[in-house]
Amino acid sequence: MAQRNIFLQHEPILRKVCKDVTDFSEHLWQLLDDMHETLDFAGGVGLAANQVGILQNIFILHNEGKRLEFINPKIIRAEGEAIGIEGCLSCPNEYGKVKRHQTVEVVALDRQGSEFSLVLQDLDARIVSHETDHLFGKLFKDIAFDLQKV
Ligand code: NI
Repeated sequence: MAQRNIFLQHEPILRKVCKDVTDFSEHLWQLLDDMHETLDFAGGVGLAANQVGILQNIFILHNEGKRLEFINPKIIRAEGEAIGIEGCLSCPNEYGKVKRHQTVEVVALDRQGSEFSLVLQDLDARIVSHETDHLFGKLFKDIAFDLQKV
């Protein structure tokens, strides 16, 4: 396991669209393990692979004891609206309000390549929406309002 460098907002890789994972081997597992370690150290709730320089459709979520991995994720259903404050490990010390869906249903693959689906709500849904945006080269700042630097 090793921590990886988190790329900051001016880096072009954060603006690129990620590609689907096709290789479910130890190389992928190492990346996922490293992403967990990186997120633990940084103290965040979510991390997308392009934030550590890998242009692949992968993100992880750490919230309320859950440690989830989403590979080639797709949001297939989204309902409700909620405004909440977000930040991003790639945009240190910046926070803003973002309107997101309150409930999302995601279909993704696990590290073995098996498909699963999950219905997530509230902060979990917000994290999944934020991280899914990363995979499309978008940052929360693109849609945030009342942006503040602290
Ligand atoms: Ni982020």
